[in-house]
Amino acid sequence: MDFTQLIKDMPKAELHLHIEGTLEPELMMALAERNGVSLPYKSVEEIRQAYEFSDLQSFLDIYYAGAAVLQTRQDFYDLTYAYLERAASDNVRHVEIFFDPQTHTDRGIAFEVLLDGIHDALQAGEEKLGITFRLILCFLRHLSADEAMATLDEALPYKDRLHAVGLDSSEVGHPPSKFTRVFDRALDAGLLTVAHAGEEGPPEYIHEALDLLQVRRIDHGVRCLEDEELVKRLVREQIPLTVCPLSNVKLRVFDTLQQHNLNELLQAGLCVTINSDDPAYFGGYIVENFQQTQKALGLSATQLQTLAQNAFKASFLPAEDIERHVDSVNKVFAAQRA
Ligand code: ADE
Ligand code: ZN
Repeated sequence: MDFTQLIKDMPKAELHLHIEGTLEPELMMALAERNGVSLPYKSVEEIRQAYEFSDLQSFLDIYYAGAAVLQTRQDFYDLTYAYLERAASDNVRHVEIFFDPQTHTDRGIAFEVLLDGIHDALQAGEEKLGITFRLILCFLRHLSADEAMATLDEALPYKDRLHAVGLDSSEVGHPPSKFTRVFDRALDAGLLTVAHAGEEGPPEYIHEALDLLQVRRIDHGVRCLEDEELVKRLVREQIPLTVCPLSNVKLRVFDTLQQHNLNELLQAGLCVTINSDDPAYFGGYIVENFQQTQKALGLSATQLQTLAQNAFKASFLPAEDIERHVDSVNKVFAAQRA
């Protein structure tokens, strides 16, 4: 069977995507030049060669340094629109993207500048490319809860443009419980919540994210299989996992894609989705994540159909939109079987 074409053709939703992680080396160089920012690299090739990571922290160090080229509203617009064009060509119909305001506000960029740039591009993407969107503000968990609260204070006047808050950056040593008060305030303000948990951190962090932060989805969550009761709970409550296979291999959560536990997660009855995380850094966008994972794990057409459906079911879209997208997924698979 031609999985390559099927994976391209199936309507997709992307639910775990850091917009800063879509900064391709070419755009990084161009923005460095446009803004007079000096980079520790002389060429696009040199940037790519630097992308050898041994774990999450070794990636984050390079990732935060690269983000320094983003300075103006236009920069954030260009970054976001470039991602959406790529997503459109991969037949992505809906995106729920993360942004990390603290990476930028700590460098003196105004919150409004980055939010306007990202949001303008998302609106243009909806109008011109037909991709619907939700925006999720992530707090950097290696910084303090007080700093996260100050970021939330800054963001709440713009909450109409935000749908949820999330938690990312260095996981181990920064459990969800550190941010209970911040998430309580976001929930009180009517925002939904998600959190990275169980990427490098233990299953206990997934429990905390559910119990203390009331998350609707777990980002990554692959370590849940170490805790049988937790898996039962995630299945029972139908809490989706936004899994990012190429990211997991690049950051050495798994040594190879063949060793990834995605098949086991599906077999356990979990609502698993496939996403790209930081595609400019991890060697592939959503289609490459699907294609390489299908090949490495021998995923069947039925499993691909489930994964494509799950992404829409796990999204924050209204029920009638979810139904429409799931129907469109099913049509593509029915045509392929005919
Ligand atoms: N920020 C960007 N990508 C991330 C990841 N995979 N885990 C935690 N924080 C991140
Ligand atoms: Zn992530």
